[in-house]
Amino acid sequence: MGAAARALADMAGGERLPDALQRHASALPIASRAPARDMAYQAVRRFGRLQALAAQLNRQPPRQPIQALQWVALAQLLEPMRAEAIVVDQAVLAAHRLATEPGRSSGPANFLNATLRRFLRERDALLQVTDSDPQARFDHPEWWLQRLRQDWPQDWESIVAVSNRQAPLTLRVNRRRTGLPDYAQRLSEAGMPSRRLGPYALALEQALPVELIPGFAQGEVSVQDAGAQLAAELLDLADGQRVLDACAAPGGKSSHLLECADVELLAIDVDAARCARITANLERCQLPQADSPGSATVRVADAARPDTWWDGRPFDRILLDAPCSASGIVRRHPDARWLRRRGDLTTLAQQQSRMLAALWPLLTPGGKLLFVTCSVFAQEGEAVIAAFLRQQAGAHRQPLEWVWPDGTRETIGQLLPRSDPDRDHDGFFYALLTRRP
Ligand SMILES: C[S@@+](CC[C@H](N)C(=O)[O-])C[C@H]1O[C@@H](n2cnc3c(N)ncnc32)[C@H](O)[C@@H]1O
Repeated sequence: MGAAARALADMAGGERLPDALQRHASALPIASRAPARDMAYQAVRRFGRLQALAAQLNRQPPRQPIQALQWVALAQLLEPMRAEAIVVDQAVLAAHRLATEPGRSSGPANFLNATLRRFLRERDALLQVTDSDPQARFDHPEWWLQRLRQDWPQDWESIVAVSNRQAPLTLRVNRRRTGLPDYAQRLSEAGMPSRRLGPYALALEQALPVELIPGFAQGEVSVQDAGAQLAAELLDLADGQRVLDACAAPGGKSSHLLECADVELLAIDVDAARCARITANLERCQLPQADSPGSATVRVADAARPDTWWDGRPFDRILLDAPCSASGIVRRHPDARWLRRRGDLTTLAQQQSRMLAALWPLLTPGGKLLFVTCSVFAQEGEAVIAAFLRQQAGAHRQPLEWVWPDGTRETIGQLLPRSDPDRDHDGFFYALLTRRP
């Protein structure tokens, strides 16, 4: 519990949860890492409620990481069927361990014992009080909820409900190596039932470490949300095309592009460390890296500054999977909503517009650019495209349609997150722009 609390304290201080967890959980024995990770994620999913409960329970906010320890323990107590006495004991023990550090007293352990036991005694009343606070009730920051209500007056509650659930582990079957029915059969024989969510998308009924997924290390499958799997399909690829993946790291979509067709791919990202992950992904999928059809070149480069890296040869296809608020993938990255600030949306939308304008001249006449964000905020989707189309007479937005495995056709623009048995995906914005010849 101590490592989960330290990671949560760092997230409350502005750090991404996966980075904080990596640091704090790596010091633990291997068997304790997954439980620490689960505890931290459970707490981040209930962070709005936890803050409101803490405000009710604490006369004065305790120092970190004691505050975070209280959040983690409360999150455990909110889970159904938890052994309550064990949770309180674990929290007290973790606080005692902190107390043995120089300069600490046993006060934190007593404080946790008292407040957690009070929560157990007054649970219903405390939950009722905190229900009046939308941030607690919906576990999202208030400004974020306002934005959702404004953009999606009919759908905002279902977006919030889906975002608060845990996402399934979804796989993309590498069509170059195996077919979806064959792979699903293989999973079933290995005692891993799955359900189909797209032409190459399968969700495992039970999540498990990637090393245990059959064929993962050999690149027969990759982990990728079913909604993210639309990108490569919507780009309308054909063998021999020159393709730019402009914000490519960690390479989930780059490898998908190469699985779809023998294209000459240039995958760029501004972040050198993340670029290394593109290369690792392509290697795992056993996709060649060089400048010929069916291969990829990976470069550290700024998509908004083609003058610093473009060789002047136009692209037939451009994928711009732009940095965004991540408001569509909250169920996979629950820390995103707590780390973002309202003003970030304007900065991100400006950055997206700059990249779009900078990359447009690199497209060959008749070529296509797919603009993607994993956001549900109109400011990072429809608004960016509407402004771009007003300025670019030579750009045309092509209607997009997707057929789900049950045969239902859907017009694709803003894809809202869903968690139905046969429609289970994150939220994305997609716009396909063609350059008039
Ligand atoms: C949404 S992620 C891309 C995910 C990736 N397409 C995939 O499917 O695995 C956005 C990426 O944009 C990169 N990025 C941010 N600013 C950039 C810039 N100016 N030029 C290129 N890449 C940038 C970030 O480093 C990040 O890796």
